[in-house]
Amino acid sequence: MALPPLSRADKIPRSTPVIRSSSCIAAIDFGTSSLSVAYTTPATDGQIKLVPLHSSYERVPNAILILKDQENQQCKVIGVGYRAQSIYGDIKKEAQNFIYFERIKTLLERDTPLDRTTEVSSFTGGYYYLIEVIACILTHLKEKLLTDHLKRKYKSSDFDWVITVPAIWKARARRMMREAAYMAGLTSDAPGITRFTPVISDLRSPEEVNPEKLSLALEPEVAAIAAQHQSAVSGSLPQRYMVVDIGGGTVDITVHDKSNGRISVVLPPMGNTWGGTTVNEALSMILEEAVDDKDFECFLISDPTRAKATLNKFFYGEFEERKKTFGDTTEGISEMVLTLPPAFVSFYGNDKLREATKMNMHYDPGDLSLEMNYHQLEEKVFKSTVDKIIECVRAAFEKLKPNRIDTVYLVGGFGGCRFVSQKIEEAIAQHCGMLYDNIVCPVQPDLAVVRGAVMWRKDPHIIQSRVADATYGINASIAFNPSIHDEHYKRVNAEGVQRCGDVFNVFILKGEEIKNKVCKTTLIPHCQSHTQVHIPIYCTSDDGVQYIVDKEGKPTVHKIGELILDIPNPDNIPRKERKYEIFIDFSGTEIQARAQYSITRKKVKTVCDFLSKQD
Ligand SMILES: Nc1ncnc2c1ncn2[C@@H]1O[C@H](COP(=O)(O)OP(=O)(O)OP(=O)(O)O)[C@@H](O)[C@H]1O
Ligand SMILES: [Mg+2]
Repeated sequence: MALPPLSRADKIPRSTPVIRSSSCIAAIDFGTSSLSVAYTTPATDGQIKLVPLHSSYERVPNAILILKDQENQQCKVIGVGYRAQSIYGDIKKEAQNFIYFERIKTLLERDTPLDRTTEVSSFTGGYYYLIEVIACILTHLKEKLLTDHLKRKYKSSDFDWVITVPAIWKARARRMMREAAYMAGLTSDAPGITRFTPVISDLRSPEEVNPEKLSLALEPEVAAIAAQHQSAVSGSLPQRYMVVDIGGGTVDITVHDKSNGRISVVLPPMGNTWGGTTVNEALSMILEEAVDDKDFECFLISDPTRAKATLNKFFYGEFEERKKTFGDTTEGISEMVLTLPPAFVSFYGNDKLREATKMNMHYDPGDLSLEMNYHQLEEKVFKSTVDKIIECVRAAFEKLKPNRIDTVYLVGGFGGCRFVSQKIEEAIAQHCGMLYDNIVCPVQPDLAVVRGAVMWRKDPHIIQSRVADATYGINASIAFNPSIHDEHYKRVNAEGVQRCGDVFNVFILKGEEIKNKVCKTTLIPHCQSHTQVHIPIYCTSDDGVQYIVDKEGKPTVHKIGELILDIPNPDNIPRKERKYEIFIDFSGTEIQARAQYSITRKKVKTVCDFLSKQD
């Protein structure tokens, strides 16, 4: 049995938030591999439309090409998606005039610390603030919708915007998307990003304009809404189902119970950072090994401006197509043939490339082709990713035991491909000891997230409860009780009273259902002179944590951010009368907080800062 918390915040009923229903909704799926935008306006007659982002394509690679205008310090977006990818791939000498990024969402998924000043390097060299690069892509997508597609009939602020994020993302990554959206002027009609701040200069946090006009949706949750919509049309509506969203960079699993008409999320978000892109990376690693050049370092040094583009075009262009042919298990094809880039061949030479046989590939110098049979492709390139995905699905089934679910929806581009769905089906059958016959891939599985995001914004209350993914709380000092508290944490305060310090005052416990309640805690300024307080918020995925540091002084919890409260005291009210209450709501897709003075009930200005650099 895990130790119980030493201190817990109160729970009080949550007044139902008023979410304005709106007639104009726009959603952006900012995927690791791809981008898409969906919307609805009064003119679409209740229907959800997708914005063609490249000729008739509704989903395009998450890539952006920007032309630097040195003189005016301005940046001109040349294009996103296929256009950006193909122009960048063909640039010969002028690479330094351009800025190019691809798949930058992977940077938000790492465990490394993320803050407003996190940098990203352009494929063409040079460093930029990641948040501004995201904002630049969002700005361009906004323009695609409002200018190219809707011909300026609407302003940005006419829309309620939704940006989708993986459910497994933590507060920092979620906050980065919100701030990037402010920078892009989604909620404010500001022009968005037109130039990048040099990374040597400070980056200010953006002004929060109309925060209520932006919501973050959790990708598997909204994909579930879209998948259910399709099921409803076909006449069967499961009540308890699992959604496995497998995209380019994330496996994201959620389980819903809809038996009372609304959705209760029954498991905390589960998943990992494997997906379609890790397959491309696996092929890259095999080839690195074949030519004996770790990270293709020698090749990259040989031509700093072109080599990266050559490799990118090969692994995310040439291979991408062959990968999909394999993924769809097209009949009669049992071998993958790739054409190696001439620059790659001339750098490593035929002799070296013939050594690809040691990696079970065959190189033909006649047409620069590299062949791999499907068995090898499965074993050497796909297997590690598919195994990691299956591991996660098994873990989710394990958590659900002994409860059954009616249906497993597989969504996301990688989840929807036949090869992956077959493997998952086999794994579930093995795990449950029977053939699980209700695995459903909706039509256009990679568009389920963006469509579902618009549906969710139309009716956000459809999700009535969620489950906490970790234990959250703050640091507290409470009256010392020798029968409960450890002597190590005993302190004596200025008034000579024994206190227990470093107590983890828990708001919400991991695995706890979050429904219709907010957490409330009452605090008092430490010093009469304080007019601003910073309250760190901590989290841990461990059970039974009672103190925020161990006896060696090592933290037992992570700081995820802090609340900054303004508590001016112009009338010099005594400290004891300056009590204030904090209310924290964990039920939504972002942690929200507000505060008020206990006596006067006057509002205390509260900022939730989840994106500043950590100490
Ligand atoms: N038929 C297919 N066979 C194999 N892989 C496929 C197929 N169709 C799509 N994929 C892969 O699916 C991935 C893209 O899926 P999706 O568009 O859902 O990802 P994303 O939403 O951009 O990423 P994420 O949700 O992880 O941030 C790519 O890696 C792509 O290669
Ligand atoms: Mg996705």
